[in-house]
Amino acid sequence: MGAERLLPIEWAHLSGISYKTIGEAGLEFLEDIKEADFSVKTTTNPCGMDLLRWKELGIDESFAIKQLRILNCLERMGASLTLTCTPYHLEMPKFGQHLAWAESSAVCFVNSVIGARTNREGALSALASAITGFTPDCGVHREENRAPDVLVKVGVELNSVTDFGVLGYVVGEIVGDSVPYFVGIRGGIDQLKAIGAGLATGGAVVMFHVQDVTPESKKYDIRGLEKIEVDHRDIQKVYEKWGGEGGDAIFLGCPHLSKEELQRSFKSKKPVFACVARLLACRERGSVRILCDTCPVVAPFRFDKIVVDSVKAAAYLGERAILRRREEILEGKGY
Ligand code: F3S
Repeated sequence: MGAERLLPIEWAHLSGISYKTIGEAGLEFLEDIKEADFSVKTTTNPCGMDLLRWKELGIDESFAIKQLRILNCLERMGASLTLTCTPYHLEMPKFGQHLAWAESSAVCFVNSVIGARTNREGALSALASAITGFTPDCGVHREENRAPDVLVKVGVELNSVTDFGVLGYVVGEIVGDSVPYFVGIRGGIDQLKAIGAGLATGGAVVMFHVQDVTPESKKYDIRGLEKIEVDHRDIQKVYEKWGGEGGDAIFLGCPHLSKEELQRSFKSKKPVFACVARLLACRERGSVRILCDTCPVVAPFRFDKIVVDSVKAAAYLGERAILRRREEILEGKGY
């Protein structure tokens, strides 16, 4: 990676902990190294099942046993089993803090919205950092790599949190792993979270800036940057790609929902699963079932068609996904 030294980190966040994604080889590897101890605060991404209601959700016992063996290894090494892709909803990292995180949406969020510093780690490099407490001094840990490369003019009104995710996805496909600088948008934590997840899915974006919104956006002179423009046709094309009717289940919360997002009212006629960190979980209301520790991408659910409000979930579920704006789902339009 061209780094000349290692940097101490304060927090590692591990992905690749679902038995569905790492399988037998991953489980065997973790059991081989489970005598190692994590030397820094270490949190974990969602696993393959809700730890309390896996039976009710149709997860096989043989899967559950393997999943629990994975979690036992991580806990033995010192991880806090947060089982969420939004660990920042539980505790915000600090501006300038060096981290080694391996969840691409969370990486994009904390670099951009908080001003913390982490590269887009893989499951194994984050695990290595959790053990050693160090990460290579390269990428966005270094000031010079945090500057924007491309200016994005947004010529479309974004009316839904889902639109922000789609905008990120469209821009990510164009810019790859560059750092985009958005002008002409406003949004709170949940909208920025959705942009980051979209950017990290359409491309491999590690951080972005939003003029007058994100903390490092004022540092840079944006005159002379290459420009791109996104309009309503670009956004519409993504909804068309994952169009369709029906669906066996509705999943919200990719990335996992915040407390504020959970407080919205839901009016769907179908059962809705809302994915969230267990530590934030609230009581179920009406047709909403709160799903903790997991998500439809890393869990072996048997639904054929899944309605989602997140472009990241749609991209990972592929042909099984129908993408809809969250508001349409919540207002029960056709659902
Ligand atoms: Fe989180 Fe699963 Fe989406 S881990 S970001 S809810 S694919």
